[in-house]
Formats: sequence, C-alpha cells, structure tokens
Amino acid sequence: MANSMRTFASDNYAGVLPEIMSALAEEAQSHRHARAYGQDNVTNEARLLIHEIFNSSPDDPLPGVHFVFNGTGANILSIIACTHSYHAVICSDISHIICDESSSPETVTGVRLISIPTDENGKINVDIIEEKLDRIGDMHAAQPKMITIAQPTEYGTVYTIDELKQISNLAKKYNLYFHVDGARLFNAASSLNCTLRDITTAVGVDILSLGGTKAGLMYGEAVIIFNQSLLKSDDGQDNSLKYRHKQVMQLASKQRFIAIQFLTLLKNDFWKKSSEHSNGMAQLLKKRLESLPKKNDKPLIRITRPVEINAIFLEIPRDWYEPLSELFPFYMWRTKTSEVRLMCSFDTTENDIDRFINKINELIQN
Ligand SMILES: Cc1ncc(COP(=O)(O)O)c(C=O)c1O
Repeated sequence: MANSMRTFASDNYAGVLPEIMSALAEEAQSHRHARAYGQDNVTNEARLLIHEIFNSSPDDPLPGVHFVFNGTGANILSIIACTHSYHAVICSDISHIICDESSSPETVTGVRLISIPTDENGKINVDIIEEKLDRIGDMHAAQPKMITIAQPTEYGTVYTIDELKQISNLAKKYNLYFHVDGARLFNAASSLNCTLRDITTAVGVDILSLGGTKAGLMYGEAVIIFNQSLLKSDDGQDNSLKYRHKQVMQLASKQRFIAIQFLTLLKNDFWKKSSEHSNGMAQLLKKRLESLPKKNDKPLIRITRPVEINAIFLEIPRDWYEPLSELFPFYMWRTKTSEVRLMCSFDTTENDIDRFINKINELIQN
C-alpha cells in the first residue's frame, strides 16, 4: 500500500515543488556536460540573479555566493567567513545554531557561542545583546565578532524592518558582522509583504544563509556574502571562502543541480507561490483551531505565539498528542506545558486541515 502520510511536523517533511522537479529533470535529461564544482553556466546565472535581487544597483559589487547542501552547513560556513577561533558569536537561546546543530559550530569553527534570552516571541533585542559586548578588547574573553538571528525566528515570528535596522546598527557600532539565518526567509518576506532586499542588504545584513529546502527544493541552501570585506582573505588570496567551502565538505561537484533549483525558485519571484501558500495555510489552520468548541466556557487550546509565517505554536490537552500525532505527525515543543508546533508547507491542503480538525472534534466528543 502506498504511504500517504501527511504531516504538520515540518516543511522539511514535504516533498519537492513540481516546477523544481521539472527544472531538475530538464537539466539532467539535457545531455549537457558542464564544468563541475560551481564553474558552470547555471551556477553563474544563479549568482547573477542573486546579485540582481539583493543589490539595489547593477554597479554594486557582486555578492559572494556559495551553494551548500544543508542549513547547518550554511550557518557553519557563515561563521567561518566572519570569525577566527578566538571569536564569539552572539545568538539567541532558542536559535537553531545552538539548539539543533549539535556542537558543530563550536567544533568545526572553534568559536564560542554566547546565547542570550529571547522575549516570548523568540526575538532578541539590542539592549540585551549590548550587555554581552562589555569585554570587547579584553584578551581574557572570547571576542564577539558576529551577531546571528533567525529571520523568521524559531517561534515563527518575524523581525520588523525597524528591529532589523536596530540590530544592524548595533553590529556596526561594535564592528561586528550581522548574519541572518534565513532558512525560511521567503516566508518572512511574504509575511512582511516586502522584497528580499528590504530585509537583507537594505538593512545592512553582512551575510545570509538563504534556505531553499523548506521552500520546496529537493535540497540546497546558499551562503550569500554582501559585505565585500568578508571576501578578502588575510593571506591576500581572492575569496578565501572558496577554500573554506571545500574544507567544510559542502562543495557539491554537480553544483549546477543546486543552482538550477535556486534559479527556478528565484526567477520572477516564484518563491512567493510556496511561501504565500504555506503562510496562508497556517492562517487558515489557526482560524479553524480558534473556532473549536469550548469546554465549560473555556477554550481547550491556546495559541502561544503570534502566527506570522507557516508555523503555529499552541498548547493542547496532553492526552490529544498521541492520537493526533499518530494521524498527522507534529512536534511536541515543550512537554511541560504541552506546547506543540504545527508547520504548514507549500503543499498543505485544506483537506489536510479538515482532517486534522475533524480528528480534534472526535477527541473532544469522546
Ligand atoms: C532556523 C533554522 N536554521 C537552519 C535550519 C536548517 O537545518 P538543516 O541543517 O537541517 O538543513 C533549520 C531547519 O530546521 C532551521 O529551522
């Protein structure tokens, strides 16, 4: 029997956008050979398109673009681009970089991660960051060199353009690099109804991990370096990051197959199709959850974070988790309060939502 599992676990659980699949198939079946390791025309075309999308003028210098296999690799390569091993990276205490990348940032790059508490919406603010910058210049302390945030945050909230500017200004004031983990950057841009430029180059982001997988690629992310000083190396080599890219084992030989996926996603703002859909499905699911019947006049569920992208966080009665997640796998986020995360993806359907809500209604009635 075919496995027809549907989930609200993660946009990583979804398959591949048909248009991406067609682009891959067309490239594969073209019978073309191409230079390997990113020296090919498709990679070059993708680089130029990224330049056009993120920079405000064609005269701006080309950003460095490195395609990688996964998001952890993108974040590691970004840290490597900005730091030496005596440096520290400021991140939030719920960041993917500190919670979900094993110990790779520390072991692969040698840096110290300094995590700071977020507010209830998963954001860090400049006052708390600044408190951690007291010991810049003190040889006994790991030296902060990079601030990293996830846009959107791991709680599915979105930094406003103003909040991004504040963090960027603080980074500039202390001579730190500003990195954005944009594993779901497309969802953030759709949520803010803005361009990709508005939340990156226009607010002074130095380096970006741009996610493709969660938007519907088969696999593939990109590290995009806007700050040209990061492209120069201490030993006079041009773009030393190309060596680091290889060194961290993220250099694909058939790189054109990552590049062709990004080209397809980025051309004519095609990314909006998947991010607007997944964000919209989360709004629909939220609405349906909010109209569930109450018990003794009290709601049975509580939405715990603002729903701004394709994720919904909510507290549910504990005894719902097993039967519900058996039908539609999803993650328990905080066992103590029975807070779970429901994630929509580019292919979530209204029928998925109906079936999920019907199951909840069944549980309520029993
Ligand atoms: C905020 C964030 N960054 C990065 C990643 C990418 O991680 P991976 O290494 O699994 O591709 C994820 C995936 O869940 C994420 O949520």
